[in-house]
Amino acid sequence: MENIARIAQKYFAPESIKSAQNFNGHIIITLENEEENASKADALKAELLGLENIQKASVIFTKKKAPQLSPDIEKWKIKGIKHIIGVASGKGGVGKSTTAVNLALALADLGKKVAIFDADIYGPSLPTMLSFENTPPTSYDGKIFEPFENFGIKAMSIGSLIDRDTPLIWRGSKACGAIEQMLTETNWGEIDVMVIDMPPGTGDIQITLSQRLDFDGIVIVSTPQDIALIDAVKGVNMFEKINIKILGIVQNMAYYICPHCGQKSYIFGQNGARQTAQKMAIRFLGDIPLEQSIRTFSDEGTPIVAALPDSQSAKSYRQIGAKILQNL
Ligand SMILES: Nc1ncnc2c1ncn2[C@@H]1O[C@H](COP(=O)(O)OP(=O)(O)OP(=O)(O)O)[C@@H](O)[C@H]1O
Ligand SMILES: [Mg+2]
Repeated sequence: MENIARIAQKYFAPESIKSAQNFNGHIIITLENEEENASKADALKAELLGLENIQKASVIFTKKKAPQLSPDIEKWKIKGIKHIIGVASGKGGVGKSTTAVNLALALADLGKKVAIFDADIYGPSLPTMLSFENTPPTSYDGKIFEPFENFGIKAMSIGSLIDRDTPLIWRGSKACGAIEQMLTETNWGEIDVMVIDMPPGTGDIQITLSQRLDFDGIVIVSTPQDIALIDAVKGVNMFEKINIKILGIVQNMAYYICPHCGQKSYIFGQNGARQTAQKMAIRFLGDIPLEQSIRTFSDEGTPIVAALPDSQSAKSYRQIGAKILQNL
């Protein structure tokens, strides 16, 4: 071996000789990051073949892999998107999707080019909320998807690709792959802000998405009651641990106004999310009331900001949107 390596060094730089091995009369020299020089390789092979008991000699040129920029994980490259904000909650069912979609529409009202992406593999609801349920995404060239476009915003949902009844066990890695494909292979055009409806909770999928997407920040949605807040705090901590900025907390279902007498009731408690924001030194973005029309318009496929742009709730979503834009 030593002898073989010494011969190889006459032709190639010592640091590029990765290995020099004799397999029963067949010598294999492996070179790394060395310019592919056939005449030098032939000369080396000829000299090696002159050695005793050598029948064959091969020279293999290899390239060293680009160093991993660890601990930074490579981000998914989504074309044309200036800012990405995630809408997340520690707990399911607190109004994350309702907030995400109305916020996206509010940002469009504020003059931004907006896209919304539904990454909630557990319960994709964007197709219903934006009226593209049961419609598969189109593609003109069979490679790139065309986003849905409704009420002035572009949209895609993981719900268009994965089956709702797919068992959760294999959803993890497959779902992340599907999310990456949909995000990177969609013809978004020029977008100022992309809103991402994240899956609820703080598990592996949420962490993977947080590391792969180049988030400007995360909006946490919580209802005022303790049980939701505990999970909201977990969510905030998880994102902060992986160095993602928290843009603030939205308090959804903050109060209920009786449509008959106009009285406010605090069904899920009063100001829990606001106080939590204060305690954690996070911006409080605003209240959204518990209002029947917020639900019914969403279920009918025209979220309230599009259906009733002059309503108090639409104004609240626009105020929250304006606060978020200040921070991008
Ligand atoms: N402010 C609100 N007023 C009235 N209904 C609301 C409000 N916010 C959300 N809802 C209703 O509550 C239900 C849950 O909301 P949504 O689907 O947005 O929650 P989510 O956090 O995305 O849930 P999931 O974890 O299932 O994805 C929906 O029926 C929605 O219409
Ligand atoms: Mg949802």
